[in-house]
Amino acid sequence: MLRRLHPEQPDSFAFTEANLDWAKSQIAKYPEGRQASAIIPLLWRAQEQEGWLTRPAIEAVAEMLDMAYIRALEVASFYFMFQLQPVGSVANIQVCGTTSCMICGAEDLIAVCREKIAPDPHQLSADGRFSWEEVECLGACANAPMAQIGKDYYEDLTAERLGEIIDALGRGEVPAPGPQNGRFASEPLGGLTSLQEFAGDHDANASVTRALYWGDTVARIRGDEQPAGVAPPARTHPEAGGPGEAQDSAPDAQPPSDAQKIGHPEVDKSEEGRPVGIEGPRGGQPDDLKQITGVGPKLEALLHQLGFYHFDQIAAWTDAEIAWIDTNLEGFKGRVTRDNWVEQARDLASRKEG
Ligand code: FES
Repeated sequence: MLRRLHPEQPDSFAFTEANLDWAKSQIAKYPEGRQASAIIPLLWRAQEQEGWLTRPAIEAVAEMLDMAYIRALEVASFYFMFQLQPVGSVANIQVCGTTSCMICGAEDLIAVCREKIAPDPHQLSADGRFSWEEVECLGACANAPMAQIGKDYYEDLTAERLGEIIDALGRGEVPAPGPQNGRFASEPLGGLTSLQEFAGDHDANASVTRALYWGDTVARIRGDEQPAGVAPPARTHPEAGGPGEAQDSAPDAQPPSDAQKIGHPEVDKSEEGRPVGIEGPRGGQPDDLKQITGVGPKLEALLHQLGFYHFDQIAAWTDAEIAWIDTNLEGFKGRVTRDNWVEQARDLASRKEG
């Protein structure tokens, strides 16, 4: 496909003040004389601000980076992530058409886009709110067929579900991204067949949780949401205010903890009844807690975090302490009782002594 500048262009482009600060902070990351290395983030920010990459924006970025216009245009026209024509004001639907997705129904998804949005890719819908295009593999082949909408992936799609998502976006809603067929991530459709000890009881996988937390799936970046070098403010779920209306300072919205950020279970260490652990393994040699059926590397790391390194420590838990652990190992609730850790630990401890 030929990638050319759109015939109709605005007269000028200027970063918002906040985006300009951000752009300067990006340029400052590179050594003197290497500022051109910042071209992709700056072009991307310009696109985020305007919705698509205009000729004045490309020229403005080239000037900021002291580059020839043609070099900036080469970058903009090479990467398909840069939109060289206007896109829908609500969403541009990027349907993956590569092998896995094609085999699993991408053509049906494209048919939905043709019917609901416009007959041709890169064409605006009649109301200017939607556009669509077919793109190359987006790296979510295990969840084929899929589409990127705004900043997030909608996976395991059917034609019917994509139609519903487009309709919802049209009503100002932002459906939760991620697998659309009930899968948690990319495990077998019938459920986990291995590594079952890693199964948690979370409602959504880490990237979906994060997308819901930020609520910016189809929101454009103005630049004042997250000043350069400053921790991001708490934001509400988009369904509270519709696309692009996520609030920057909801009083009851808390930023995710480090554990939530990386999808790890949360441990409440403050509650009464918590068994008392020790600073580190005795003699620097922890027992292999994975010998307890049901304890895998992740749970072993959590137990270490709580100060439990030895079978005899677990063997000595009281009923109240078992209840505390069972309640507070978010994602692994009830495991101590279900797998009878204490009895197993007693057995392992006595074998170790014997
Ligand atoms: S083939 Fe569609 S995401 Fe890879």
